[in-house]
Amino acid sequence: MKKVILITGISSGFGKHMAKLLAENGHSVYGTVRKLTLTDDLVHQLKMDLTDLASIQNTVSTVMLREGRIDVVINNAGMHSGGPIETIPFETIKLQMDTNFLGMVHLTREILPVMRKQGGGTIINFSSIGGLMGLPFQAFYSAGKFAIEGFSEALRMEVKQFNIKVILINPGDFHTSNSINRRNFLAPTDDSDPYQAQFGKSLAAIEKDETNGWKPEILARKMVRIIECKNPRQRYIIASFEQKLAVLLKYILPGKWFRRILEDHYKIH
Ligand SMILES: NC(=O)c1ccc[n+]([C@@H]2O[C@H](COP(=O)([O-])OP(=O)(O)OC[C@H]3O[C@@H](n4cnc5c(N)ncnc54)[C@H](OP(=O)(O)O)[C@@H]3O)[C@@H](O)[C@H]2O)c1
Repeated sequence: MKKVILITGISSGFGKHMAKLLAENGHSVYGTVRKLTLTDDLVHQLKMDLTDLASIQNTVSTVMLREGRIDVVINNAGMHSGGPIETIPFETIKLQMDTNFLGMVHLTREILPVMRKQGGGTIINFSSIGGLMGLPFQAFYSAGKFAIEGFSEALRMEVKQFNIKVILINPGDFHTSNSINRRNFLAPTDDSDPYQAQFGKSLAAIEKDETNGWKPEILARKMVRIIECKNPRQRYIIASFEQKLAVLLKYILPGKWFRRILEDHYKIH
């Protein structure tokens, strides 16, 4: 059945591929961008910045005016900051939280009355493996994703009565524009910083994982199946076997053992 779908952040990565595939499958797809560009006519572009509440409200009212309903919202857009907790400027920490967490909260709060009145809907929130375990030198990214986890788990129970489903997506490493767009603080060559040596080694491990990551098309295809299935699960971890195993180990191993595995992976000795 054709659905009206709103996806945030379709200029690159997951958003771009999900929007295209869902539109090709016959859904009515609205995707948000910060800069309007010429693209596929199948996907309707709307200008929205997650740090600007008025643009979020405008996006929801535009889709409602054109379609009269919104069946699925995919809170996909996000940014990524990297660096030592001590070094990352506070404005970047704030921007990270305003974009990845509070922006998603604003859009969700605009969508809830729409979905309640129409008798239901699906909200899909993009977390990460980093939303299930704190990642060194990605602390504020991880913290924002942990916040999305707690928010989504609570929301799911509050809106069950209105037939609104809340799904969490935890991607592992994928090769998107995420790495290029990441704001890194402290260049790995800046030896005036006491974290320089460690950050350099850990950043190399982070970038290696991302470069060897899966193609975003794989996730987009999985998302189409999730959106079109009648009874979706409440969480999907879309990741390699090793990354899924890491999530399992976090819950079954003593904390110190699991921390050593992560430290080894991120070259922290
Ligand atoms: N790639 C991975 O390995 C990975 C792993 C786990 C989770 N994720 C999550 O998956 C989601 C998509 O990431 P991606 O890998 O596809 O990254 P990406 O290629 O960098 O795409 C991010 C999208 O978010 C948009 N965006 C950034 N800041 C925004 C703002 N203030 N307002 C509105 N839109 C904004 C970007 O638009 P502009 O072009 O305007 O910047 C872009 O369209 C994110 O939530 C990310 O945390 C990714």
